[in-house]
Amino acid sequence: MKRGVPIDAVKFNQSAWDKMAAAGDKYYHGMTPEQIEKARNSEFRIRVTPTRPVPDQWLAPIKGSSVLCLAGGGGQQGPLLAAAGAKVTVFDLSEIQLQRDLEIAKRENLPLATAQGDMRDLSCFENEKFDLIISPCATCFCPTVEEIWTESFRVLKPGGSLIVGFINPVYYIFDAAKLDRGKFEVRHQIPYCDFDLPEETRQKLLGPDRPLEFGHSLEDLIGLQLKAGFELTGFYEDGWGDNDKLSSMINVFIGTKATKPKS
Ligand SMILES: C[S@@+](CC[C@H](N)C(=O)[O-])C[C@H]1O[C@@H](n2cnc3c(N)ncnc32)[C@H](O)[C@@H]1O
Repeated sequence: MKRGVPIDAVKFNQSAWDKMAAAGDKYYHGMTPEQIEKARNSEFRIRVTPTRPVPDQWLAPIKGSSVLCLAGGGGQQGPLLAAAGAKVTVFDLSEIQLQRDLEIAKRENLPLATAQGDMRDLSCFENEKFDLIISPCATCFCPTVEEIWTESFRVLKPGGSLIVGFINPVYYIFDAAKLDRGKFEVRHQIPYCDFDLPEETRQKLLGPDRPLEFGHSLEDLIGLQLKAGFELTGFYEDGWGDNDKLSSMINVFIGTKATKPKS
């Protein structure tokens, strides 16, 4: 049942991500000194989905390029790319996630800038500032996604690319409580939002502090990138890893590379 979103979802998610990062959730484990040292020698892999690295050829050349890690806080992608020689700005909703990047940058003596905000509003950046945008899975935390694509298009230089990971909407159609027990029961429509769950189930399944999620259609996730002016230049799929039941049936993550035409 569609109930709408009775709260400011982005404000709620900012506080939820701050709490998760402060509590030492897995997203807060930043890169180790060993991983940074390897990245200085160009040995690094970047992930925008849980397990599969972004293909190397999607990233070249990194040295000297201007890179925006969009919704990329937590001390992972940003410090690696900075160590590999990119001029990095990490943009994220959560101040605590951004602190992880700054801590690692300080520890490793890496130049790295941060900016805090909602990824749908990049007005703090001028047009055509970046060569590359890398965005690990975060569209699921935004009620709408079209602005992410139009703003990314605006701040990229002609010929620049947006590499983004997101969740296949099929992930959200199942009854989440039963899915945890390995039972596939189709229950929800796409677009989905956590407020579609009955209140009691939502509280029981997600608790009061977990970030709110939204299941966007593929038309919104891919079609609207094309509408913003991008050309799709790369595509792959990935799963959760471990023993995730749904991922053993279908890959539920997608990575795309979209390029802003030169003219
Ligand atoms: C799954 S984490 C991805 C980043 C992390 N470096 C990684 O590789 O897993 C999602 C990130 O998106 C951020 N985020 C959530 N909603 C956002 C929004 N509306 N605008 C910007 N960042 C957002 C969160 O604070 C979090 O750092």
